[in-house]
Amino acid sequence: MKKDREQWTSRLGFILAATGSAVGLGNIWRFSYVAGVNGGALFLILYTAFILLVGYPLMVTEISVGKITSRNPVGAFKALSEGTPWWLVGALGVFAGFIILSFYSIVAGWSLAYVIKAVRGFGSDMDFAGTFVGHISSVWPPIIWHGIFMLITIGLIAMGVVNGIQRASKILMPVLFGLLLILIIRSITLPGAGEGIAFYLKPDLSELSFNTILAAIGQAFFSLSLGMGAMITYGSYLKDKEDVNGSAAWIAGLDSAVAILAGFAIFPAVFALNMDPAAGPGLAFITIPAVFAQMPLGYFFGILFFILLSVAAVTSAISLLEVVVAWVVDEKGWSRKKAALMLGGVIFLLGIPATLGYSLLSGVSFFGLDILDTYDLIASEITLPLGGLLMALFVGIKWKARSVREFANSAPGMIKIGKWYDVLITYLIPVMVGFVLIFGLISKFRG
Ligand code: TRP
Repeated sequence: MKKDREQWTSRLGFILAATGSAVGLGNIWRFSYVAGVNGGALFLILYTAFILLVGYPLMVTEISVGKITSRNPVGAFKALSEGTPWWLVGALGVFAGFIILSFYSIVAGWSLAYVIKAVRGFGSDMDFAGTFVGHISSVWPPIIWHGIFMLITIGLIAMGVVNGIQRASKILMPVLFGLLLILIIRSITLPGAGEGIAFYLKPDLSELSFNTILAAIGQAFFSLSLGMGAMITYGSYLKDKEDVNGSAAWIAGLDSAVAILAGFAIFPAVFALNMDPAAGPGLAFITIPAVFAQMPLGYFFGILFFILLSVAAVTSAISLLEVVVAWVVDEKGWSRKKAALMLGGVIFLLGIPATLGYSLLSGVSFFGLDILDTYDLIASEITLPLGGLLMALFVGIKWKARSVREFANSAPGMIKIGKWYDVLITYLIPVMVGFVLIFGLISKFRG
C-alpha cells in the first residue's frame, strides 16, 4: 500500500503543506468576523484555550491516524478497526469536505474579485461597505469567481500531491505574514485605535454564553483544519521516519499566530473608522481596504494583500478537495484526474445556492441565517466538533491513547508527548466538546 502512494519529500514539505491547509480564509475572514460577533477578547481567550486543549492533541491524533494507515479518512478507520462502524467517522469527514469547500470557494471567489477591485482602486467614493454588498448581491460575478477558484483547485489536485500541493505552499506564506505586520502597524496607529485594542484584549464576561463557547470551538476546528480528516489525509503522505509532534506544534502555532495577528490588523481599524465589530461576514472585506486607503503605497499593498489571501485560500481549498478525492481514489479506484473534476464539479454546484442567498434567494433563511452561513454552521459548529469528538472516542475506546502516544513518540523529534495526552483525549475532549456541542446548539436554536 505504502509504496505506490506519493509522499511528502521532506518534513518541511509536510509542515508547509499542512500549514497551508490550516492558514486560509479562516484566519483572516472567519476569525475576525466570528470574534467580532462574539465579544472580541473573551472569544480570543476561549479560542486560544481550545487550540491548546483540544486542537493540539487532535492534530497529533489525526496525523498519527493518517501516518500509521497511509489511507484516506474512511479507509484509515476501516484499516484500524476492521468490520466495525468506525469508518463512519471518516465518512462524516468526507461529507464535511463537500459542504465546507462549497462555501469556502464562494468566499475565496470574493477574494479573487477583490484583487481586480483593488487594481481598479475601489471606486473614488471610498464606500467599502457598499462595494462589498454590491459585489455579493450581484448574481453572476460571484458565481463566475467561484467557478474560477474551483478550477484552480481542481487543477492543482489533478496534478498530484507533491507537485501540486507542496510547490504551491512554499514561498507565499511568509509574504502574507509580512503584509499582515504592515497592516497591524497602520491599524494600531490610526487615531482612535485604542478602543479596538481594548475590545480585542479586555474581556467582557457578560458576553459569556454557550453560543460564544461553541463559536470558539468551531473556529478552533475550522482554523486548524481538524475534525474532518484533512490532517489524516495529509498525514497519510508522511514518511515513516518523519516526526509528528513537532510538526503538529509548528502547524498549530503558525496558524494561531496568523489568526491572532489578523485581529490586531482588523479591530483597531474597525473602531478607528467607526465601524461595527459585529458586522458579520463582510468585516475583513470592508475594513482591510479601508485601512489600506489610509496609508502610503496602500494601493499596491491592497492588491498584494488580496492576491495573497487568495493564495492562502487555494492552499486550504486543495486540502478540502484532497480529502474527498483521496476517498474515491483509494476506495473506489477512480483516477485522480477524474475524481478531482467530477467531485470538484459537484462542489461547484453545491456552492451556487450559497451565493444566491445574497441575491435571488435572499428571502431564504434558516434560524435567521442566510444560506452560506447555514452551510458554515452545519460544517463548522456541528460536523467538525462532532468529528473531533468521535475521533477522540475512537482513541479512547478502540485504539487506546497510550498506543497513539507511543506511535507519535516513536518518530525522531524533540517533542515527546506525556501522559497528559491520554487524559485529554480519553476524557477531557469528549466530555468538553460534547457538552459545548449540546448546550451550544440548544442555546443557538432557542434563539
Ligand atoms: N483551515 C482552513 C482555513 O482556516 C480551512 C480548511 C482547510 C479546513 N481544510 C479544512 C477547515 C478542513 C476544516 C477542515 O481557512
